[in-house]
Amino acid sequence: MKEKCKYIYVTTPIYYVNDIPHIGHAYTTIIADMLARYSKIRGQDVYFLTGTDEHGQKIEHSAIQNGKTPQEYADIVSSKFKELWDDFDISYDRFIRTTDKEHKIGVQKAFEKMFEKGDIYKGNYEGNYCVGCETFWTKTQLIDEEGCPDCKRPTNVVKEESYFFRLSNYQDKLLKLFENNPEFILPKAKTKEIINFVKAGLNDLSITRTSFNWGVKLPQDMNEPEHVVYVWLDALMNYITALGYGSDEKDMKFWPANVQIVGKDILRFHSIFWPAFLMSLDMPLPKHIAAHGWWTKDGSKMSKSKGNVVNPREIVDLYGLDEFRYFILREVPFGQDGDFSTRALTERINSDLGNDLGNLLNRIQGMSGKYFDFELNSKYVEKYHQKELDEVKNIINGLEKDIFSMQISRYLEGIWLIITIANKAIGDYEPWSLMKNGKRDEAMAIVSLVANIMAKVALLLECVMPHKVEQIALSLGIDIDNNQFENSITNHKLIDRFTIKKIDQLFPRIEDIKSETKQDEIKPTIKKLTTIEETNLISIDSFFNSTIKVATIVSVEDIKKSSKLYKIEVDIGEKNSRQIVAGIKEHYKIDELIDTQVCVVSNLKPAKLMGLLSEGMLLASKDEDGLSLIRPDKKKKPGTKIS
Ligand code: ME8
Ligand code: MG
Repeated sequence: MKEKCKYIYVTTPIYYVNDIPHIGHAYTTIIADMLARYSKIRGQDVYFLTGTDEHGQKIEHSAIQNGKTPQEYADIVSSKFKELWDDFDISYDRFIRTTDKEHKIGVQKAFEKMFEKGDIYKGNYEGNYCVGCETFWTKTQLIDEEGCPDCKRPTNVVKEESYFFRLSNYQDKLLKLFENNPEFILPKAKTKEIINFVKAGLNDLSITRTSFNWGVKLPQDMNEPEHVVYVWLDALMNYITALGYGSDEKDMKFWPANVQIVGKDILRFHSIFWPAFLMSLDMPLPKHIAAHGWWTKDGSKMSKSKGNVVNPREIVDLYGLDEFRYFILREVPFGQDGDFSTRALTERINSDLGNDLGNLLNRIQGMSGKYFDFELNSKYVEKYHQKELDEVKNIINGLEKDIFSMQISRYLEGIWLIITIANKAIGDYEPWSLMKNGKRDEAMAIVSLVANIMAKVALLLECVMPHKVEQIALSLGIDIDNNQFENSITNHKLIDRFTIKKIDQLFPRIEDIKSETKQDEIKPTIKKLTTIEETNLISIDSFFNSTIKVATIVSVEDIKKSSKLYKIEVDIGEKNSRQIVAGIKEHYKIDELIDTQVCVVSNLKPAKLMGLLSEGMLLASKDEDGLSLIRPDKKKKPGTKIS
């Protein structure tokens, strides 16, 4: 995503048709949709691909269980995904199905090419197979000689004739790829785990199956009617067959993909098999594989049998589509897991959307109507508000970086800082007092400043809440398009005039809607809160925004210039130790600290204290008797998480 390139290609995984879509699938698809929309409004030519993965043993089994042929079954479930994305206004350019004819031809072409290259040979596969994960496992990888290391379910023993892909030949090339492109995998931190997997040794990969036939046949020339292509080879190829690989090549100009969004469950397939296949085909590699975390419900994996699957349609019917999009993109930092709760969703809607954003628009409508007959001009904005304009400009300039590194929640945090600047400016300058004192130009300046900020916010939020932004645009009388984006965001220009229109409240408070609905999860929770002696209650999700880990103090250095600070090196289980600057000198001697364990907030933005970098914070508690560090009761491995 880094370069301002002409073509942008964004993909989601293609989802298996053995299950109906839930919020996990919606999450991935909405992230991709956001990136596609963002690129579009910046003026890039975007291709956004999603679709369904329909072959393989797992789908064949599900079809049989449902009394359907695999094709009938795939047709039904695939259309459920497509309908959902259509109802959610997902801006995909192509919905691919692996049962599409051109896709199958493309897979065969790729198979042929890899075969000609000498990367495919015939042999016999003997080992274990997990149908649920469609994955081959060797004996040493299994749990208790049987269990799938990913999903823990029992695997099947498989012994069949098979073609193999020489994955082992790509081990070094893959390691080089990760080394030379530290941002190939995002978040970067996930690269290490993949490198370790590759370093442990890659076996050649079985890429055909003979014990069932629901899959792409081998190329006719190979004369192997018993073999079908392994579902992961078939599925991964969708990213290029969708562009016409092996058929009309119509959209190949979009390759390589800029970013391929996947869940962490399938990162290994996308960062090992996929680049190896592409290298074998002599094709360029995607710029980024971005793996997000996992949504759970009440702390556990969603599954039909537990009955805890969150249906995105129900949530959207109750809370609104844009509200849901905002919530899932804002609540959990990309790459981390999150637990879905309607309580946290409600809080976000009432607070971020209602109080901060919606209210700001109300104030613009109210003040422009009351003082200026709904006509605003920006003539005096620069004269009185250069400071606020500069602050906004600085934040906007940092936002692209957040998007490029997939820090989507941080992108939204940045936008909310901009909203805060506007809300604060109204409080600071009090347009009502200015009007009372006859300072009409100054009052006009502040209201127009806020309208301009709202316009910028709307442009930046189009990719996240396109429908609400349409409403904002209507109220401000502005266009939300590529031109306006260039003027207001890229070039930081002001809009000369606004004719403001009154519109319905953007985000009505949720309790009002809730009382009419069947779910009443919120009321009892609010009641319970009254017994706690705290006023600033946060959700569990907010708590888990901080990562707290056990750390061992490796060394301590006195900072002579300071009466309070020590420079401390801690081991928190990472490759390198971390430096923390902590104000504990008055309470601990150096040798009371060395080799002891402490608790460290490890995901704080690094800060500088007395010119020294501090990469975390020690937890401590202080009363009239002094300060004491919080330490684990028993010794724990450095890096162990505290929860
Ligand atoms: O793996 N939280 O398909 P799949 C977050 N067909 N994301 C979730 C999720 C959750 N609880 N559950 C699912 C396949 N996802 C293959 C892919 S691609 C060439 C082939 C999302 O139906 C997430 O994106 O099992 C995850 O990677 C994907 O759905 C898995 O979908
Ligand atoms: Mg899956």
